[in-house]
Amino acid sequence: MAYQVRFVEPDVHYRHLKAEIDSAMQEVLAKGDLVYRSQLKQFEDNLAAFVGTRYAVGLNSGFHALHLSIIAAGIGAGDEVIVPTLTFIATANAVRYTGATPVFADSEARTWNLDPTDVARCITSRTRAIIPVHLYGHPVDMDPLLELARQRGLHIIEDAAEAHGALYKGRRVGSLGEINAFSFYGNKIITTGEGGLLTTNDDALDEKVRFLRDHAMSAEKRYWHTEIGYNYRMTNLQAALGVAQMERIDEFIARKRHIARLYNEGLRGVDSFTLPPEATWATSVYWMYSILLAKDFSLSRDEVMARLHRKNIDSRPFFCPIHVQPPYRAALSLPVAEDLSRRGINLPSAVTLTEADIQRVVGALRKMS
Ligand SMILES: Cc1ncc(COP(=O)(O)O)c(C=O)c1O
Repeated sequence: MAYQVRFVEPDVHYRHLKAEIDSAMQEVLAKGDLVYRSQLKQFEDNLAAFVGTRYAVGLNSGFHALHLSIIAAGIGAGDEVIVPTLTFIATANAVRYTGATPVFADSEARTWNLDPTDVARCITSRTRAIIPVHLYGHPVDMDPLLELARQRGLHIIEDAAEAHGALYKGRRVGSLGEINAFSFYGNKIITTGEGGLLTTNDDALDEKVRFLRDHAMSAEKRYWHTEIGYNYRMTNLQAALGVAQMERIDEFIARKRHIARLYNEGLRGVDSFTLPPEATWATSVYWMYSILLAKDFSLSRDEVMARLHRKNIDSRPFFCPIHVQPPYRAALSLPVAEDLSRRGINLPSAVTLTEADIQRVVGALRKMS
């Protein structure tokens, strides 16, 4: 049996980071500085410089980054926040945790991301923010959303959990909204095992998030709390891992783009598959290399995945639209997202994949076409 072409599982991811992990751990342990100091400041400074924002605040997950961003924007019970239905469920859960209501908008077929026309349809007198998600590493077409937000007085919070380094019209994602979330979960391009971060250019938002992540303790008076805060801090150990990897982020992104090029070359011209978008204004980081099966394809998506699995090739289905899932089920039709979700497959995308791995996946798919 051929060895398994794994996905972006932590063990695959960490294998190529062993040297970075070892030296980062040694350094932190030697200093005895486990929490919250020099490496965290370094990681935040590196991220802010990379993304192109004045500030970055390290946190302990992407979900908590989203949660704090919504709170820091002053959003809560009675408010509505527009999110794509085709995203990981954390985007919607973060809104719900603040007491606000997530309102689900459809995707556009050309980028698989939030459709600005559908966002406009979703706006009510209670709407306070829009959270565009750069799905699978491809940036959202931000200008129409930024314009809509300007006209209607809404906040834009980018969910850049899956798109470290992606460019929208030459600007890094995570620098376009007012306050923007990243995840460093084990399968992300930069990983701290668990971890997250917010970026912003706004002094007040930066200060508010730093205050809230640390139990909302007064900077002037120790153990004095003027509101109810959170422990959403990133540890120094996590940050040290991040610092070590930031030195190689351009290499990881180049590798992701190279993998996408190999898949594109291997699958181009096969009518059965739609290859992932890359708009003329976009530089995708292809966090997940993803394809759509043709509408009239003879096999179901699950059957294609099962056949890949029998050849020891791992894959994932697209996210399920959130509006059909039990906590949020609503009598809504969001046809583009529903269709993308039915036909979409994430193929193995780890930076450790070899050319031979990709040829194996391509060969298996071509055989089915
Ligand atoms: C789009 C999106 N938003 C938010 C998150 C949540 O990040 P975390 O797992 O770090 O909480 C994820 C996934 O991990 C994600 O894919």
